[in-house]
Amino acid sequence: MGRLLPNPLAPSGRRQLGGVLALGAAVLLAGACTQTHPVDPLGSPAAVASCSATTSLTAPADLPASLVPGLTLDVKSDETSFIHLATPVIPGVTVLTGRLRAIAGSDLSGYRQDLAASGDDIGELNLSWNLTGVSLRAIGVQVTTSRSVGAVTTGSTQVVWWDQVDHRLLEPQDLFTAQGWSELTARLTVDLCAGGPARTPLVTQALSRQPGQTRLAVAFAADGGAVVAISSMTPGSEPFKVVLGAAAVRGWLSAAGQAASAASVQPQSLPLVATPVQRSTQADRVAPRRAATKERVSKPASPPARKESRAQPKAVDCRKARCVALTFDDGPGPYTADLVRRLQKAHAPATFFMMGEHVDAFPDLTRTVARAGFEIGNHSYSHPDLTRLSESEVQHQLSRTSAAIQRATGRSPTLMRPPYGARNAEVDKAAAQVGLTEVLWDVDTLDWKHRNAKVVQKDALADAHRGSIVLLHDIHPTTVQAVPGLVIELRKRGYTLVTVSELLGSTRPGSRHFRAD
Ligand code: NI
Repeated sequence: MGRLLPNPLAPSGRRQLGGVLALGAAVLLAGACTQTHPVDPLGSPAAVASCSATTSLTAPADLPASLVPGLTLDVKSDETSFIHLATPVIPGVTVLTGRLRAIAGSDLSGYRQDLAASGDDIGELNLSWNLTGVSLRAIGVQVTTSRSVGAVTTGSTQVVWWDQVDHRLLEPQDLFTAQGWSELTARLTVDLCAGGPARTPLVTQALSRQPGQTRLAVAFAADGGAVVAISSMTPGSEPFKVVLGAAAVRGWLSAAGQAASAASVQPQSLPLVATPVQRSTQADRVAPRRAATKERVSKPASPPARKESRAQPKAVDCRKARCVALTFDDGPGPYTADLVRRLQKAHAPATFFMMGEHVDAFPDLTRTVARAGFEIGNHSYSHPDLTRLSESEVQHQLSRTSAAIQRATGRSPTLMRPPYGARNAEVDKAAAQVGLTEVLWDVDTLDWKHRNAKVVQKDALADAHRGSIVLLHDIHPTTVQAVPGLVIELRKRGYTLVTVSELLGSTRPGSRHFRAD
């Protein structure tokens, strides 16, 4: 749909859909059957598959990324095509990281093909992740994909398991003994979720050695139960899920499956792996949460939080000064710490619109940004096109992110920026209800597209004027490299850099701002 510049006059042309929340466990729950079979046709109550998985106990374990020190992100985004894919980079485990990248790559090429074949130019692809098992013996990563072609949204989920002892990827059947797998197959094939005959071919297909478009994922809940999700990739479908009780599952698991289950039920923090990494990546290493809490006062990798190094030493009156606000979206990520250092060196204030998913992955880094005096805004939890979600789903995306920022920094944000700048009346209303002011932009550097520091500088300088809000993304190293020069050139032209709150002054929740008037 061409270059998306937020237009304050035109309503968003995108259709409002009751789309899915691409929120890890939430997708599994959203796609769950709601019917409980009155009678267990297969005998032992311990082995009954429950289809009424509405409690968090039956959701796959959702673990903090801080259990994996040195974890960073691989983010692919295309702001004009509504594409955002994030996968974790697990240090020292290149095969696992490679599989996750391959999933993202295949989702992306499949989506582009389907979009082209549909003749529809409106779509969205969103891929998010969470850790579902971490121990010295196994690592499990859940990947949740939501893709829309035209008005049809399809959800899917995959779980990639890595055996830390044998150094190999585990396919779903590797988690079970031969007997356990055949028991599981029987359970799924009879379709206890009362999905009817229509689901049987789907289950058969998922269990076959060549599943094609059908995906089977196995994750474990904190209570030791297993969550088996089958994603059909049929347009408009959501993962079909069966929850298996802990007692049944225990007898079915192979040694590798038991290790995977233990990694979900009793997760362990991994030791820091010494791998050659880029300077900016190294600085983002996140210590285990427990240690981080103790060491909150002094973290060696963090830029110092000394008063004199704070980004904004004194208040600026933008009625007098020629103010411009630099804003950085989609982080915090591998290059954020480097950007913070560069901004601090230049004494340049800025505003970071962060994704809740990344804040939860990097709480220490988020705290570092806040302590250095930068403003933090809300950029949704998993970067979906909010106009495709219901009002309550939008509220959930925003409130979950504000809570993550509050947890990490002690302060709840007052500003939000909708992903892709996509908004409509429902998004505005949801923002107002959770107390957030909408901040868009009037200068789009297209930094995600150019990936060239000089071009980013040139574009920002060409379009900036008094009161401008400049859109940048700190997930790209080229953007971070562009910043010091951009700051110097803006100042040469008489601009004063400020945070968005300083630029706009006091604002009303739910109001929208593209620049300062
Ligand atoms: Ni974004």
